Parts: sequence; C-alpha cells; structure tokens
Amino acid sequence: MEGSSLTVLGIPGSLRRDSFNLSLIERAAALAPEGVDFDIFGQLGAIPHFNQDSEGERTPSAVLDLRRRIDAADAILIATPEYNSSIPGVLKNALDWASRPPGESVLADKPAAVVGASPGRYGAIRAQAEVRKVLGAIGAAVLEQELAVPRAHEILAAPGATEAAEIERDLAAMVMALARLAGVPARAKLSDAVAYSRECQRLAAAG
Ligand SMILES: Cc1cc2nc3c(=O)[nH]c(=O)nc-3n(C[C@H](O)[C@H](O)[C@H](O)COP(=O)(O)O)c2cc1C
Repeated sequence: MEGSSLTVLGIPGSLRRDSFNLSLIERAAALAPEGVDFDIFGQLGAIPHFNQDSEGERTPSAVLDLRRRIDAADAILIATPEYNSSIPGVLKNALDWASRPPGESVLADKPAAVVGASPGRYGAIRAQAEVRKVLGAIGAAVLEQELAVPRAHEILAAPGATEAAEIERDLAAMVMALARLAGVPARAKLSDAVAYSRECQRLAAAG
C-alpha cells in the first residue's frame, strides 16, 4: 500500500436526507488514513428498478455510473439501514444491477465491508448480515466484521461522547482492514485472503 493511494466507494443504503447511514459513510471518509480517498455514491434513488429487459445496450445511465464507480474503486463500504429486519429495497436493487452481466460483475473479487446504523437496539445487524450474504453470492471479497450503531439518533448526535468515540475507533479500524484487504497485490488472490481470514476466525472461535 505504501506510496500508492486507494479509493473506497462509500454507498449509503438510504435515500433519506438526514440518513444516519450517510452520516456513517461521511465519518468513515473523514477518519480514513492518508492514502485512502473516499468517493460517496449518493445516487441510489436515480437507479431504476431492475429489469432484465433493460440490460445490454439498454442499461440505464445511472446503472452504468454505479458500475463505473465500483469498478474504479479499490474497495466498497456499504452503510445499510434495516427495513423490516432486512435490506432496504433501493440497496438490494443496486446490488442486483451491479451483479450483472453474469461472469462480468464489477463486484467480483471487490473488497467490501458493511456497517449499519439504526435508532433501534441492534444497529441494523440483521440487514448487515444480509448485505454480506448478497455480496458474497455476487463474489465480492467481503470482510466478516460488522459494525453496528444502535440508538443512532443519540450516539451520532453526540460526537465526542464515549459511545461515539468507540464507534469512530471501530469505523477507523474497519476502513484500515478494508484498505489492507484491497492492498493485497494480486486481485486473483483476494478470495484466498478472505478464506484464510475466515479460517483464522473459525479456529480462534473453536479455541
Ligand atoms: C419500512 C421501515 C422498516 C423499518 N424496519 C426496521 C427494522 O427492522 N429494524 C430497525 O432497526 N429499524 C427499522 N426501521 C427504522 C430505520 O432504522 C430508521 O428509519 C433509520 O433511520 C433508517 O436509516 P437512515 O437513517 O440511514 O435513513 C424501519 C424503518 C422503515 C421506514
């Protein structure tokens, strides 16, 4: 990673103007170490519903823009809200578009991490797990770690308080882990690196 810079595409999975998840992506960008630049994709609302009849030459321009920016990024960071215990439709829709065409997805082997914020008690952990599952199905190199921000309306509103500082520490660590994953020199080896990391976690959990 030394001497070169990495770009992380931050994708907030909410269209809400005062989204807690957009705020999380903005904080991650602010906390990124030197050499890690953020591009923030704030156009999920411009992406039409997925329709297989609109693929190929008919692919909508907003989808082409999303794919181009994922392709140009070294890694992606998704901050997902949780709707009815699952992924918001706009985010799933965007991931479905980005998974196409089959065998040529810009998400294949793309280093990816998922975080989430919610005013509830669990910080969107169920939605985060589902986003990781979807990314894994598409073939992205997904970090296993989760970062949950519960009571987001309180915690994110009080920067400097202990809980907010802990979230910022964990967010910074997540960005570092993502940058490290993206810094593995050969793209073809990324899946091996993720499999290795999973095996280490499994062995550690098994004691
Ligand atoms: C349709 C709908 C369903 C929701 N379901 C959940 C849920 O299952 N779990 C949860 O923690 N919050 C749920 N919420 C509350 C969201 O976490 C809250 O609206 C949050 O602010 C959305 O994220 P944002 O601030 O990034 O827009 C739901 C909100 C909506 C609109």
